[in-house]
Amino acid sequence: MPETPVLERVLFSEEQLAERVAALGREISADYKGKQPLFVGILRGCIMFYADLLRNISVDCTMDFMCLSSYSGTSSTGEVRTMLDLRESIKGRHVVIVEDIVDTGLTLHYLMNNLKTRGAASIEICCLLDKPANRKAEVHPKYVGFSVENEFVIGYGLDYNELYRNLPYIGVFKK
Ligand code: IMP
Repeated sequence: MPETPVLERVLFSEEQLAERVAALGREISADYKGKQPLFVGILRGCIMFYADLLRNISVDCTMDFMCLSSYSGTSSTGEVRTMLDLRESIKGRHVVIVEDIVDTGLTLHYLMNNLKTRGAASIEICCLLDKPANRKAEVHPKYVGFSVENEFVIGYGLDYNELYRNLPYIGVFKK
């Protein structure tokens, strides 16, 4: 538990997360057989999900990361900035973007437009959580762990002002 009581309730336990992430790994592995996909993790929120998902990928694959920033506190600033770009070219690659949560969709909308100019063979989105109620830009994640209500969540990589990413479960943040 966090040192300060900041949780309204636990939303997804460690066991629920492990089970769902393993299922996503199996589904993606079946879809990408023989395609040697490139998994692009969006730092820093993706870290736990990325590490657990990739352990459940049974096809040959490579890893790369980007760091994007658009959030301050519990609300999106709307302005997306690339803090860290990919190391390798994605030309001709089958790219799977691994993201913690899609909220307004602004971050992934920006990222999709950016990556589409780089000549990938395909680009799909895999997000652990989808918060469709708050959407401001169109994005279509192909692989979704769980759909959530319009509440601010923390844990398993998700932060509030950089805290609570280390929680092994996901909970609703107490305002
Ligand atoms: P979007 O651009 O509004 O879709 O937001 C994407 C990013 O905002 C995510 O990758 C998260 O880092 C952050 N975010 C959105 N909702 C939450 C939340 O409920 N908890 C923690 N971070 C969030």
